[in-house]
Amino acid sequence: MFESLRSVARFKPIELSATKRRLQRSANVDDLRQIARRRLPRGVFDYIDGAAEDEDAARRNVSAFQSIEFRPRVMRDMTDVDTSTELFGNRLAFPLVLAPTGFTRIAHSQGELAVARAAERAGIPYSLSTMATRSIEEVAEVNDGQKWFQVYMWRDRGLVKELVSRAAGAGYSTLMLTVDTVVLGRRERDVRRGYTLPPKLGLGTIIDGLVHPAWTWDFIRAEPITFANLAGRDVGDGSTAVSLAEQVSSQFDPGLSWDDVGWLRSQWDGPLVLKGIQTTEDALIAVDLGVDGIAISNHGGRQLDSAPAIADLIEPVVDAVGDRAAVICDGGVRRGADIVKALALGAKACMAGRAYLYGLGAAGEAGVDHVLGFLEAGVRRNMALVGVNSVEELSRDYVSRR
Ligand code: GLV
Repeated sequence: MFESLRSVARFKPIELSATKRRLQRSANVDDLRQIARRRLPRGVFDYIDGAAEDEDAARRNVSAFQSIEFRPRVMRDMTDVDTSTELFGNRLAFPLVLAPTGFTRIAHSQGELAVARAAERAGIPYSLSTMATRSIEEVAEVNDGQKWFQVYMWRDRGLVKELVSRAAGAGYSTLMLTVDTVVLGRRERDVRRGYTLPPKLGLGTIIDGLVHPAWTWDFIRAEPITFANLAGRDVGDGSTAVSLAEQVSSQFDPGLSWDDVGWLRSQWDGPLVLKGIQTTEDALIAVDLGVDGIAISNHGGRQLDSAPAIADLIEPVVDAVGDRAAVICDGGVRRGADIVKALALGAKACMAGRAYLYGLGAAGEAGVDHVLGFLEAGVRRNMALVGVNSVEELSRDYVSRR
């Protein structure tokens, strides 16, 4: 009996690092989301995970990808699968751009720096948000790879001009204007919790912090969170706690219109992308104004709740725009398969925000590496199982609606 037991017993060496143990137990993005949910204070997790109103758009972003089926081809020699692709003249190791997310240090003290380093290691672009908690220059210091910069249209155009020229000076290649935030969507989880940025220290926050000691210890040892790109400006730089809705309504220009795209175009020589396009009509206006990229996005369901699901928009927008601009899409990407589906429908690349924030919240920088490794491997495996060696071969022949 002992002989036969010995022949099957295989004890793994005990992993001493708690982070590594957490990651070993995570098979996918949803597992990391669950870990992040346990580690982060509830208000922080809800800010990241939550969306507008009934959170219907956020849910449908995910389910619309799931409702697309592959039409796999077999017997095609999948010895060498190349996941790389070209976007705006640069090579991406696989077709993913990390989406801009505000207040990233809320998930982990290393925040944007951790994500920017992980993106460079993975060989894909990182987009820095205007509302970041690390500055344009700080991120450029740790990332020598492809960097995009996201802007909102501030009432103060002088500020936009200054941010854009700082981004150009620091080596950011692509500018992305977010066009879906003239007012802030109503994120009801944040409303219930009275959530502000940075978080206000009330009794509730203190109790929440005590029951999430790992996050709290990391948070209190780090320097205070501010909107690092706006430091010293009279625009609410995060040194006093405000709700995001207050910040947006006092600073973002609700008068944003197509004229501003022409103006921004004149300020920026590199590729210009509009993020938040949700109809073919607007995609066509944008290409007529000379933008290089259309990012189909409903802001992860955080703005207009009854918005179209991203996977449903790819085909019509790609058909309308043709090769006049690169169409990328953002919202609901949780697996490599989603990226492969988006490309089969005609997108040039996907963006993902929450996916890496869950990794960051669950395990810091190693968690982001884990997510990017998982997505890259998922793209590679799904390409092989679908029967394509290169992303250029992907076409609508490989997908159908369930
Ligand atoms: C900021 O853009 C957010 O969605 O919270």
